[in-house]
Amino acid sequence: MAVKIENVNQSKLEELQGKVIGDVAGSMGLLLAYVGDKLDLYSALAEISPATSQELADSTGVNERYVREWLSANAAGGYVNYDPVSSQFSMTPEQAIIFAAEGNPACMQGFFQAVVSSYTDEPKITEAFRQNKGVPWGDHSECLFCGTERFFRPMYAENLIGSWLPALDGVREKLESGAKVADIGCGHGSSTIIMAQAYPNSTFYGFDFHEPSIEHAQERARAAGVARNTIFEVVTAKEYPGKNYDLVTIFDALHDMGDPVGACDHIAKSMSDGGTFMLVEPFAGDSLEENSHPLGQIYYSFSTLICLPASRSQEVGLGLGAQAGQKRLTEVLNEGGFGQVRRAAETPTNIVLEARV
Ligand SMILES: C[S@@+](CC[C@H](N)C(=O)[O-])C[C@H]1O[C@@H](n2cnc3c(N)ncnc32)[C@H](O)[C@@H]1O
Repeated sequence: MAVKIENVNQSKLEELQGKVIGDVAGSMGLLLAYVGDKLDLYSALAEISPATSQELADSTGVNERYVREWLSANAAGGYVNYDPVSSQFSMTPEQAIIFAAEGNPACMQGFFQAVVSSYTDEPKITEAFRQNKGVPWGDHSECLFCGTERFFRPMYAENLIGSWLPALDGVREKLESGAKVADIGCGHGSSTIIMAQAYPNSTFYGFDFHEPSIEHAQERARAAGVARNTIFEVVTAKEYPGKNYDLVTIFDALHDMGDPVGACDHIAKSMSDGGTFMLVEPFAGDSLEENSHPLGQIYYSFSTLICLPASRSQEVGLGLGAQAGQKRLTEVLNEGGFGQVRRAAETPTNIVLEARV
């Protein structure tokens, strides 16, 4: 379709051009970062730094010409450093954290992996727009599930036991003496396993409707030594079994559900008297204006490409979106039977709501 353009402001055009060129550089940079992660190039460079391209090639078994071009792009982008006198490349501790420190909350590789999966799955998303259909969570490429786990797990490890659970009224005491907990939409089970490790007297049920994720969670739980107090099951959020849960949690999954109100209704009915529902959702304000910043752009983009299509592939297909904000989330919780809702904690990337019937 030809677009008619008049009255161009040259300086505004150049300003936008500059911004978009930066975005293009970033999109290429993170793809190369993903390649480097798969080939262990960053961890090797961090280990032997400073090193020539030949030395990095020798230590990783990757062709020197490929390594040199990859290093050059990384140096041009400021992801690694280059010394023209010695022809050596190096990484600062800060660069090593972002690109090579697996498990560090500031390491971005899981994030990159999730972005790459969105590029891979783009044809399905465009077709969903065209056909006004959804795309089920399970139809995404494998690296989405692994990227989600890699990105979220360090954040949960850093915040869940030390600040989020203690911020809930009376929950820590119940967990210490022995509580029954359900973690809904648990994915690969990161949050379930972290809680099960911290509270061995409690029993943790991890529920998710994506079978490969549940199989993965079971393996992870065995490896982490918490098979005794974790039970994982393939089931939807509206159909999971059991009653009298003292604590129900959802981490970054309610907005992916087709019927979040129905899920909340089921959760409310499955809880013990005085039970608590902890809802963790992406950080957001209550309006587009408040969310118009780089993190908001990232979340709205993931929401467009993953969360909204996932929700719209399920019954009801509410399409809450990943930037719903506390006000809208509270409406959903109220409709689902939770009369009391408060913000118990927050980080720059998440809000943590405590809901009670
Ligand atoms: C973004 S992932 C979050 C996974 C996990 N909670 C975490 O934080 O790593 C969303 C999860 O919600 C699950 N999910 C989406 N809709 C669901 C539903 N209706 N019932 C059960 N699980 C659902 C997906 O299978 C996926 O594992």
